[in-house]
Amino acid sequence: MDTNQKADETQKKNSFGPSTALAYLDPHYWDERFSNEEHYEWFKDYTHFRHLIKAHIKPTSSVLELGCGNSQLCEELYKDGVTEITCIDLSAIAVEKMQTRLALKGYKEIKVLEADMLDLPFSNGVFDVIIEKGTMDVLFVDSGDPWNPQPETVTKVKAMLEGVHRVLKPNGIFISISFGQPHFRRPLFDAPEFTWSVEWSTFGEGFHYFFYVLKKGKRSSDGKGCSESFKMPSISLLHEELESEDYIFRTAIDDMDN
Ligand SMILES: C[S@@+](CC[C@H](N)C(=O)[O-])C[C@H]1O[C@@H](n2cnc3c(N)ncnc32)[C@H](O)[C@@H]1O
Repeated sequence: MDTNQKADETQKKNSFGPSTALAYLDPHYWDERFSNEEHYEWFKDYTHFRHLIKAHIKPTSSVLELGCGNSQLCEELYKDGVTEITCIDLSAIAVEKMQTRLALKGYKEIKVLEADMLDLPFSNGVFDVIIEKGTMDVLFVDSGDPWNPQPETVTKVKAMLEGVHRVLKPNGIFISISFGQPHFRRPLFDAPEFTWSVEWSTFGEGFHYFFYVLKKGKRSSDGKGCSESFKMPSISLLHEELESEDYIFRTAIDDMDN
């Protein structure tokens, strides 16, 4: 079995996830998972949203990726000419394996650090672009009612967003690639302390993922972000997607169905 076949087998093995979505909040779950898994791309890979990212990242942009896991997003950005990239993850195993993988491929400029996105270890105003794919969504697995998330969830998400806002440059951009629909995410993105505008688009076939773009310093004078129109996915399509992917949002879907 060659390396690609092994990676495919591992991806299949892990494609049903843990018995409870709460495990996604446990760093040990991630360490164990990354010990046995070489590559898994949450949601979709870069080819599906490259056209959306390219509009916001220049080769000279300094980029921070939150919760890189074992995704190939940073490599793909690098191949597209973006070389100033820092990735963080809470899992020491993910970080170590990502460092080894990037070194073997010769992508030595990409920095990979063990760090908590709720307590970012960076100075104010240092990144042009911060990107996360499926990482913020982990914070919602025990949020309860998505219309009225638990205070603990709100506290964690706010800590994350405050950190992101702080370390972005004055005109920096936060890109969030998420399952979370705008009516659940906007109340958090639109909190009055943030100076960013909020826009989104969607990508994907059948089920659509959300591609949020928050531009620091661009909030409109009435304090509201602006939005693009979007199409709500149907619940049946959503379930098809859930069955085929290792999905962290089972609890949210259950809530939507109830
Ligand atoms: C759903 S996976 C997404 C991985 C990757 N972004 C992708 O698109 O495939 C969530 C990742 O976030 C990491 N993570 C969870 N909580 C974190 C935190 N507080 N700070 C940094 N990383 C975290 C996990 O270790 C895991 O790698």
